[in-house]
Amino acid sequence: MSEEKKTIKISPIKKGTVIDHIREGQSLKVMKILGLTETVVKDVVSIAMNVESSVGKKDIVKVENREIGSDELDKISLISPETTINIIRDYTVVQKKRVQLPERIKGIVKCKNRNCISNQREPIEPEFKVMSGEPVNIKCIYCEREMKEEEISENIV
Ligand code: CTP
Ligand code: ZN
Repeated sequence: MSEEKKTIKISPIKKGTVIDHIREGQSLKVMKILGLTETVVKDVVSIAMNVESSVGKKDIVKVENREIGSDELDKISLISPETTINIIRDYTVVQKKRVQLPERIKGIVKCKNRNCISNQREPIEPEFKVMSGEPVNIKCIYCEREMKEEEISENIV
């Protein structure tokens, strides 16, 4: 088989959202952040992992027929700041932008401090203030524990 035929490609979509330049191997966490792993979600989703790109390997997630909102997509920046979002209509990219780091993060990351009040039985949602973007660093608003990129990625709920 030629090199060309050995490459698996996912098809262009007619309309929806293409989440591109996801850090290699992080697409399942992206799915989790967006709630796409829930069984109630019926969207058609395609995932490509570890595909070659001009700047090393990347993952891609395509969600058909739905234009996902910026606030939701921006959460991806926590684990993959280089990610780009493409809105597709009638097979054409009508909008392209990079995810932006939000100022606050609520409910996606679990605090690493086991004694933190957000980890007790009280119904308190974890919440963090974003301290820096490169590298990503966030700080729990309850116990002030700081978390870096790798810790954030390991503690996505
Ligand atoms: N895409 C898609 N369906 C379409 C159009 C585009 O799935 N109808 C996908 C492409 O496969 C690519 C992404 O959306 O993963 C962005 O498309 P495009 O802007 O055409 O590609 P590039 O110029 O390579 O994007 P970039 O410069 O962001 O790398
Ligand atoms: Zn905490």
